[in-house]
Amino acid sequence: MYEKKLAWGVLFRLFHWAFAISIVFLVVTGFYIHFPWSNSVIEGSYSFPMAEMRYIHFVAGFVFIGVIFIRLYLWFLGNRQEKLWDCAPINSSNIKNLFSTIAYYLYFTDRHEPRIGHNALAGSIYIFTIVVGFFQILSGLWLLYPESAFWQGWGIAIFGSQAQARFVHFIFMWYYIIFAFIHLYILIWNDIKDPEGLISSVFTGWKFFHKDTTR
Ligand code: HEM
Ligand code: HEM
Repeated sequence: MYEKKLAWGVLFRLFHWAFAISIVFLVVTGFYIHFPWSNSVIEGSYSFPMAEMRYIHFVAGFVFIGVIFIRLYLWFLGNRQEKLWDCAPINSSNIKNLFSTIAYYLYFTDRHEPRIGHNALAGSIYIFTIVVGFFQILSGLWLLYPESAFWQGWGIAIFGSQAQARFVHFIFMWYYIIFAFIHLYILIWNDIKDPEGLISSVFTGWKFFHKDTTR
């Protein structure tokens, strides 16, 4: 017998898709800013691809900033699964879950604890992903407003120079690209091994469990 449990609220699902889509735009346009692949003869004569790419990057950047704030709100005021401490490895049950999930992913065991929210391994990586987002925002805003005393103060304190901020901004783009591929691989692997409706849960909010097995 299966039972249906609500894992994710509407705001969380909106956050997820706005976050994922903004990152796709940021990566494509960020790549262009780093390595403008269009013909330089076109640039500035009858079309302005760099200006357009930068414009899209900044619009997606502000969407990204907005959704990071939504996630911060949900960390503290979301439902049980959305809260920071539900999956952060800060208590004995989550630390145990972190190691048992690693063992499960390495095929050392077939047993794993069914959870309505994230397991502690996924949760820790998701938290790190948001923290990386703060650095993208700080470096991005300093690159965007180099003359603002406020962003200069933060920028110099954290990154040292504009060139270093730009380098960190570029390297962290690779974090998101690698994260996205591993994220999709692990989601599909989980959905095949343990069909609890993991992928559909980020559209519908619901997951399915054998009766009385969830924490
Ligand atoms: C996941 C988030 C983001 C990714 C993957 C990303 C990616 C990139 C990349 C790859 C570059 C080119 C860097 C280089 O030339 O080496 C870039 C430049 C830039 N990004 Fe981002 N970015 C992100 C978020 C943001 C945010 C939130 C802002 C702030 C609104 C922002 C503002 C900028 C600015 C101002 C530049 C420099 C543009 C220029 O020099 O013409 N980025 N970004
Ligand atoms: C077809 C594409 C995607 C699907 C079906 C999908 C699905 C999911 C699902 C089911 C979860 C919850 C998993 C769990 O409980 O551990 C999740 C979480 C997450 N996804 Fe995706 N995802 C997709 C693309 C992306 C992309 C492109 C990104 C960003 C690069 C992303 C970032 C995240 C993050 C950060 C979380 C954790 C949210 C949090 O709790 O803070 N996803 N995704």
